[in-house]
Amino acid sequence: RIKILLDVDTGVDDSLALLYALNKEDVEIVGITTVCGNVEARLAAENTLKILDLAGAPDIPVVCGFEKPLEGEWDGRTAFIHGDNGLGNVELPSGSRTLLEEDVCDFQIRLAQKYEHELVLVTLGPLTNIARTLAKAPSFAKKIKRCVMMGGTVYMRGNVSPMCEANFASDPAACDRVFQSGMEILAVGLDVTEKVRFTTGAMDWLDKCCSPHSRKAVDYMKQALTYYWEGNRNQNYCIGDCPLHDPLAMMAAVVPDLVRVEKRKARIECGGTYCRGMVVTDLREQPIPAEYVGFALDVDPKRALREFLSVFWKSQDS
Ligand code: BDR
Ligand code: CA
Repeated sequence: RIKILLDVDTGVDDSLALLYALNKEDVEIVGITTVCGNVEARLAAENTLKILDLAGAPDIPVVCGFEKPLEGEWDGRTAFIHGDNGLGNVELPSGSRTLLEEDVCDFQIRLAQKYEHELVLVTLGPLTNIARTLAKAPSFAKKIKRCVMMGGTVYMRGNVSPMCEANFASDPAACDRVFQSGMEILAVGLDVTEKVRFTTGAMDWLDKCCSPHSRKAVDYMKQALTYYWEGNRNQNYCIGDCPLHDPLAMMAAVVPDLVRVEKRKARIECGGTYCRGMVVTDLREQPIPAEYVGFALDVDPKRALREFLSVFWKSQDS
């Protein structure tokens, strides 16, 4: 089984990634930490507990992380896409689960120690928690097996500024620290996530064909995505479909060969007016000093969407 330590800023697409992982055979989420991004870390943690309940998941420890990036202030909620509550304004019941009151860095270090060289760290929000953990214990980088992160863009346009993607732009200093930590990294960014679209048609199909076990999750997805689709429509961004950003990163962590990867020496621009948070790769013969990072540069969108949907209907057979 693939053991995952998840770091997340639970908004709509994060919740989809979580539901996918919880329904995917051979995946075990051993711990979840939350960070400010789409919403405050605290709200992300509460949302995470609600999604775990919705999925009928086993007890998974959830720890609340940092409410501010390494430098500067948090930008605030992205309500026009994720709703005021981060879950597309869908009101899910608060179950009986509670947060684990442990320091987020200590928690991550403890799990990396317990499952040494086994853990896949999946990050779906800004990299603040991970940078802080590395500052406390630099050996964390080599104790985990690898890190798969949703973030960045190499060839595509940005989504929060001309060249930058939201997760990297929210905490560029943290991202650069993680990049230079010596960790084995796969960055799954807009180059591929923009290609994998969850359409209204796919949603209708899933609504008809989902397994009884997934019914609640699918009902939630339908409502949350309606908000997401509308949010994007208001931005003239994408109408009737949404990019599966976080789910694709999660899928890339568990399905080998889902994305085509190229390793590049890379840094993150931490200053500037228009490019703060931009991925800088250097293909020259004498590149800038930097560690290698793997970037997902291509994907078969149909295969990826099928993979996502499959976990919600396949269980029908069993
Ligand atoms: C990323 O930003 C957030 O809004 C999404 O949850 C995703 O992690 C996409 O740029
Ligand atoms: Ca996210």
